[in-house]
Amino acid sequence: MNNTQSTEVIFELSKSGRRCHKLPACDVPASHALSALIPQEHLAEKPPPLPEVGEIDLIRHYINLSARNMSIDTNFYPLGSCTMKYNPKRHERLAALPGFASLHPLQDDDTTQGMLEILFEMQQFLAEISGLSAVSLQPAAGAQGELTALFVAAAYFRDKGQAHRRKVLVPDSAHGTNPASAALAGFNTVTVKSGKNGLVDIEDLKSKLGDDTGVFMITNPNTLGLFETQIKIITDLLHSKGALVYLDGANMNAILGITRPGDFGADMQHYNVHKTFTGPHGGGGPGSGPIAVRDFLAPYLPAPVVVKDGARFKLNFDMPKSIGRVRSFFGNVGILFRGYAYIRTLGPDGLRKVSEQAVLNANYLRTRVSKGYEVPHTGPCMHEFVASAHTLLHKRQIKAMDVCKRLLDYGFHAPTVYFPLVVKEALMMEPTETESKETLDAFADALLKIKDEDPEFLRNAPHTHIVSRPNEAKAAKEPILRWTPNKQ
Ligand SMILES: Cc1ncc(COP(=O)(O)O)c(C=O)c1O
Repeated sequence: MNNTQSTEVIFELSKSGRRCHKLPACDVPASHALSALIPQEHLAEKPPPLPEVGEIDLIRHYINLSARNMSIDTNFYPLGSCTMKYNPKRHERLAALPGFASLHPLQDDDTTQGMLEILFEMQQFLAEISGLSAVSLQPAAGAQGELTALFVAAAYFRDKGQAHRRKVLVPDSAHGTNPASAALAGFNTVTVKSGKNGLVDIEDLKSKLGDDTGVFMITNPNTLGLFETQIKIITDLLHSKGALVYLDGANMNAILGITRPGDFGADMQHYNVHKTFTGPHGGGGPGSGPIAVRDFLAPYLPAPVVVKDGARFKLNFDMPKSIGRVRSFFGNVGILFRGYAYIRTLGPDGLRKVSEQAVLNANYLRTRVSKGYEVPHTGPCMHEFVASAHTLLHKRQIKAMDVCKRLLDYGFHAPTVYFPLVVKEALMMEPTETESKETLDAFADALLKIKDEDPEFLRNAPHTHIVSRPNEAKAAKEPILRWTPNKQ
């Protein structure tokens, strides 16, 4: 994005007396004015120092600000594991229909039958796609889905008199939320190594599996974009020890309608509706991370779930073994609704095509990128792959981060960088099914050009953006959200 507009803020455009609008003269009698009703000591001494600007300046200011961000609607966004696919605008129109948008979560069931029917069907669709039997729509993100499922597992083991199963096994290629969720749920995490082929090392898994193991959290396809070909052996192994298998479903975009976690042995899984089923996301939300579980775990799901009672739909709170609520009301209904619209639009065959195309696109891009970058795990890949700038760093002192920053100048969002941790200088790319061959070619061309550019020039990239290299940790942890005037 070539954005070199002025960095002026709206306060600096302010000119005394300038307005966007003209209000009619106040016809409320002075005795009824708010200022007459509120005690004097609570009144502000003077109006707040708001910017005084005309409408055109105001509009230009905000439109220019909005154009400084990259988004899926403006740029290719190959953020591995995050599935940044196109968010169909039709879903926005449907979600904005007054019958949905104006509902209040405290309304009586009798007046929300339409929405309850949609949530009920969504539970059924997600159960069918996973090959599992019961669903909770409550969790508000993938990470919260993980945590919820682990609470469910802990409640199940407590109920069975097996509270000693405190160990959760997690592969070293897993997303950081997996061990974090296990720790938050009170389990001890133990890392399982990946073999040279990038898949779970079965011998290492066996050596760590014991009677104290509660859950194995596995991502399949894993974060290297590889399908765990021994998944059935792995899940049988876990079950033979009485442990449960949790499937991190962040990568469901690769397997929709092709295989089902329940069929390859998972007992629980989460979905990222905001990834796989096109909920718009980024910048921390909104998300939706429903979980699906096997029938014997259903009693422990968060209450309420939506049930059908004759021809009526209702919220079932009568779940004595439930772990309780994990989120207010029924989950992030706006995102669930968009996911529902997507599933209904595509149907089973369409969903399968989504995954086939996503895998095809990733393999095409991998083949092109591998002409200039190391790709440590040779293909074919699933819906994403991980390249490495490791050799580039050795030969030309160019880091993965330099490549990513420079991509912004070419008009592309960066891939996921430095994850998974098992690959040095990782560049994790997920093109998704919605991108054309022309876009994939343009992106691959940019990557191949960048690797031959001047290392010093790359170290200072991006060159066309107002903000170049912020301290990213500080920007996330200490965001400056309020403008303050420059001190003279
Ligand atoms: C493999 C994997 N697991 C879990 C998560 C967590 O999902 P969320 O961001 O919805 O909390 C992510 C998110 O990037 C992920 O890539």
